[in-house]
This record gives sequence, C-alpha cells and structure tokens, in this order.
Amino acid sequence: MRTILRGGTVWDESGAADADVVIDAAGRIEALVPRGGQDGGAAREGGAPAQVIDVSGLWVLPGAVDAHVHFRDPGLTAKEDFLTGSAAAAVGGVTTVLDMPNTLPPVNTAAAFAAKLQAVAGRAYTDFGLFGAATAWESIDDLIAHVDGLIEQGAVGIKVLLGPTTGNLSAPSWGELYQLLALHAERTVFVFHCEDRSVIEVATPRVPRALAAEYRGLLAARPRFGEILATAGVLELAGATGARVHVAHVALAEAVGLIARAKGQGWPVTAETCPQYLFLCQDDYEAIGPVMKVLPPIRSARDRDELVQGLRSGAIDLVATDHAPHEPPTKSEQPVWEGSFGMAGVQLLLPLLVDLALRGGCSIPDVVRWTSAAPARAFGLYPAKGALRPGSDADLVVIDPHRAWCVADDWWKSKSRNTAFWGRSGRGFPAMTFLRGRLVQVDGRVCGPPRGRLVRPRAGAGKTDGEAK
Ligand code: DOR
Ligand code: ZN
Repeated sequence: MRTILRGGTVWDESGAADADVVIDAAGRIEALVPRGGQDGGAAREGGAPAQVIDVSGLWVLPGAVDAHVHFRDPGLTAKEDFLTGSAAAAVGGVTTVLDMPNTLPPVNTAAAFAAKLQAVAGRAYTDFGLFGAATAWESIDDLIAHVDGLIEQGAVGIKVLLGPTTGNLSAPSWGELYQLLALHAERTVFVFHCEDRSVIEVATPRVPRALAAEYRGLLAARPRFGEILATAGVLELAGATGARVHVAHVALAEAVGLIARAKGQGWPVTAETCPQYLFLCQDDYEAIGPVMKVLPPIRSARDRDELVQGLRSGAIDLVATDHAPHEPPTKSEQPVWEGSFGMAGVQLLLPLLVDLALRGGCSIPDVVRWTSAAPARAFGLYPAKGALRPGSDADLVVIDPHRAWCVADDWWKSKSRNTAFWGRSGRGFPAMTFLRGRLVQVDGRVCGPPRGRLVRPRAGAGKTDGEAK
C-alpha cells in the first residue's frame, strides 16, 4: 500500500518546503506534492489505496546515516547487540548505520564478513553497512587478497586502526598501506583511525604517576603529535595513490587544517567528527568523569571550536557518532589511560544537532547535510540513502520541533548508559522513523519486526567523481 505523510514541512540540504510525501508500495519516495496550490495542493489518495499519516506541524527529514557505530555483534554482545544498537538508532532518527569491524572475530577476511552478516541478519531495525578491516598479515599478498575478498563480499569500506583501541587490531605498515591503496584505489573507501601506535606506546609508560588519576594523564599518554602524524600520513596516502580516504573522528584543530589543505590540493579525502568533540572539551572531565574517555581523546576548548568551524567551512564533511558502548566504568585503581574507551551515542546524533540548530548554532539544512547526505555520498549510498526526492528510499524521520527529549532510562535503547550526555535534554524530538516506507519507531518505541537489510556501496564507490548529486 502507498503511504502519504500529510501536512508536514519537508527539509533537505537546500531548505524547507511545505509538501506532502507520497511513498510507493515498494518503500520509495514517489512524489513530493507542494501544498498551497490551486486546490490546496494536498496529495490525493486517488489511484492505488493509500494510508495517510498526519504530520501537520512536524518536520520531515531524510533519515540519518550514522557512518561510524560499534554494535559489538558478534562476540561482545554484553556491551551491545544489533537489536539494541539498531533500536537506539531508529529511536534517534537514524535509518542506516555503518558498523565497524572490531567485533569478535575481527572482520578482516571474507569468511569473517560472511559470518558476521549471518549473525546479524534479521536483527536490525535499520539498514546497515558493514566495514571490513585491513590488518597486519604475514605477507602483503595475504593483505591484498583479504581486502579484495572483503570488497567482493560488499564491505561498505575498509577500516584501518593505526593506534591501539578496543580489540587491539594491528595495522599494516605504511609501505603495505601504500601498495594496498594504490591497488584497490577506486574500488572502496579506506577509513582511518588516526593515532600513531608508536607515539602512544612510548609516551604511555613515561607519564608521571602523579597524573595517573587526572585527565591530563590520558592526554599525556596520547600526545597531539601522534594524531597529527597519522592524519598527515593518511592524507599523503590519498594524494599519492588516488584512493578515497576518510578520516574518522577528527578531534584535533591541527587535523582540520591538514584536511583542508589536502582538499585544496584536490586529494580524494572526506572527514568526520563526532558530537562528543563538538559539544565537550577536556574541562568537562571533572564534572563528567570516566564516561568521557574516548579515543582519540576529547581535548581543549580551542580544538572543539576549530572542529565546529571545520564543519562550517566544509573541511569536515559529516558528523557520525562513533557509538562505542561499554559496560559502566568500574571503580578501579587503574590509571586514567587504561580501561575501556568510547561512549554510546547513535541515539543522540540527530537530537543533539537539531537542538543545536533550534538554538541558532547551525541550520537544519546543515544538519541534513552533515548527518545524511554527506555520509551517504562518502560511502557510495547516495541517492538511495541520504536524499528526500523521488526514487530515493523512503527513509525518513519526523521531528517534533516543539517537543523536548531527555537522555534518561525511559527513552534510552542502548544496553550501555555509558554516555557523557546522560541527563541532557533538548528540543526536537524524533517522533517517527520510517525505513523504506515502513514505520519502525513511534514516540520513542520501536515497532514491527526488524527489517533492516545490508546496504552495499554503488560499484566504483571509491571513484572521486562518482559522488552523484
Ligand atoms: O573510543 C573509542 N572506542 N574509539 C575507538 O576508536 C574505538 C571505540 C571502541 O571500539 O570501543
Ligand atoms: Zn570507532
């Protein structure tokens, strides 16, 4: 049956229109019918039967594409699983998630990819892409063959973790990466966690014990130099090989400058930052405590402000959450640079940014671009995802701009309450979420069976000119 969302304001990257959204029986957008024409312009129910959903006074946006989540499934499901992670996504207005490969076993072979897909199939309320990982193997030939297998299986991108983090996956050497990217350029997008391992491993044991209980100790264990070096290196890889490089969770002012310069040279680079880097700085640690520990670490107010500027200038393309649930931090004697890192956040991507827009910090079209269109383009999913126009999947979120949300147990869907934003409230409640035309969330509750499917990037998604508008 067709569906008509009647009476709302429809937003995309360029602005707003008062229009009804007609969704065809296959779950794609059939038409946007502007209201206010001769006959009032409302979409007619004539023709095939239609259910009409009244969204007057509400905003209709393309569903968000969270390009960076860790749903921990399979292997680490005490922290999160695909059902709970994707429920949190749907409740927050996210309709596609791209899931990271540091699950157990790590997704660094075609067989591991197939096993993960089987494990999570039928357990997602949103559509999802799966990343593969490029890790250190015995030989470069093995590395190249495994990455080829991952791309063939439909990996949405290839992740490289240059520094130690959850799962402690080891990265190929720079020499191997150079060959790998040159060979697989144009076939996929390479996503980099930019912290240099050696800089961290040498710095950590040298941090004075006196700082062991202070956030400054964590920052000393991960000098800025390590992030600058790794970021500069991966940008040079893009320049040297022509491969599409995406810089994950940019957290540092200097990195914004390096990325802007690389883009200025015409290198095929995109970059993301996360709400925790846009809304928090190191001074908040005293009040928030260990749930604020993420990698790379949250740094100064100047870094935060430069990241916001970087988004505005276009140096940074998109906002993703790095949703990284963990069990609650245990009270322990271990130093601040040990333990688990990461916070849950997929549910808050849109609420935090819509609230920012309502407070005048950015516009709703900015929010649509940063959370939906830009990530869909970066990963070869546009315009099936990330666009609200005829032919696109009817992945939609209906926002009530007057209604408040509050990060509390009765709304929260992740297994992990490990977020620095616990207790925070704002305006712009995601009142409904549609996945390919079907309602998957109403009023903070998921509905229907989990119908999410694997998304595969368009062929040649690594091509720089392939980002169709
Ligand atoms: O804080 C983080 N946690 N950063 C990462 O890069 C990985 C993530 C995790 O998997 O826990
Ligand atoms: Zn991550």
